[in-house]
Amino acid sequence: MTVLVTGGRGSVARGVVAGLLAAGVPVRLSGREPEALSPPEGVETALVDLARPETLPPALAGVDRVFLYAEPSGVDAFVAAATDAGVEQVVVLSSSSVLESGPNRIGDNHRAVEDAVRAAGFASTMLRPGGFDGNARQWLPAILGDGVVRLPYPESGDASIDERDIADTAVVVLLAGPGGPHDGTAPQLTGPASLTRREQVEQLAAALGREVRIEPVAPDDTRAFLAASMPEFVVDSLLPHWAAADGLPATVTDSVETITGRPARTFATWAREVATPLAVR
Ligand SMILES: NC(=O)c1ccc[n+]([C@@H]2O[C@H](COP(=O)([O-])OP(=O)(O)OC[C@H]3O[C@@H](n4cnc5c(N)ncnc54)[C@H](OP(=O)(O)O)[C@@H]3O)[C@@H](O)[C@H]2O)c1
Repeated sequence: MTVLVTGGRGSVARGVVAGLLAAGVPVRLSGREPEALSPPEGVETALVDLARPETLPPALAGVDRVFLYAEPSGVDAFVAAATDAGVEQVVVLSSSSVLESGPNRIGDNHRAVEDAVRAAGFASTMLRPGGFDGNARQWLPAILGDGVVRLPYPESGDASIDERDIADTAVVVLLAGPGGPHDGTAPQLTGPASLTRREQVEQLAAALGREVRIEPVAPDDTRAFLAASMPEFVVDSLLPHWAAADGLPATVTDSVETITGRPARTFATWAREVATPLAVR
């Protein structure tokens, strides 16, 4: 059995590779720039750009199971190439944005990939995480700099998830394989509690041993800052998402615990174990 893991530079993909290796499963790690990957010993690498169909057949040769990033532009080509290669199971890194109503391009993109994979008849599981804890990295420079974080919608609720929990969940599903209990499911993955964005900043600053002051800013005044680190259409989806959650707790699920057998990590754990080492580098 060989598992192809796409999006090799991403934090989720790295966790999936580590978990599969620990279970003794052969893994092929792929990315758009395979030479830039730093795979663990014993892991082969391959070029996969999901938007470039010609990269798929060589990378899929001999592969049984795939951990798939959701790139809608190339999904039909992926489905065709994976079918030709005899792939049996596809686990999609989707998004809980597919559950939101109203215009939302992030949700549309992930829904397109979910629909295509489901329709192709693979054993499939759609992992639907909400916001990643790692999104909080955007606040590190301000917390470590002048200690002022300018925040739109500070009272917006977020049950963000540690990327390691997404990876651990994906590993359980991939190891269960086709015919396993997760076939045809689409678990919504969250952290163990809803925090406001203000509380996230405060917990991150506390983990770093820093004082922080939060300055609420008007959404339009934060567009340029956000657009520097993400595509415009993501900003267009995020601002209404935060507006809708303003003053409200976010949905919390127990899917991570149900699937992996242990509770999801807290945001404070992420801040201590992941963000703090980044800050001292
Ligand atoms: N951040 C969140 O809060 C959040 C929440 C829910 C769902 N998600 C979804 O989770 C995924 C990762 O999120 P992220 O924030 O880490 O996003 P990101 O920084 O945009 O993406 C990271 C990974 O996506 C891979 N990727 C992008 N385009 C690709 C393509 N054409 N072909 C192959 N791989 C491609 C990259 O692979 P390379 O190694 O080749 O660069 C990279 O490893 C995204 O699909 C995102 O929509 C994110």
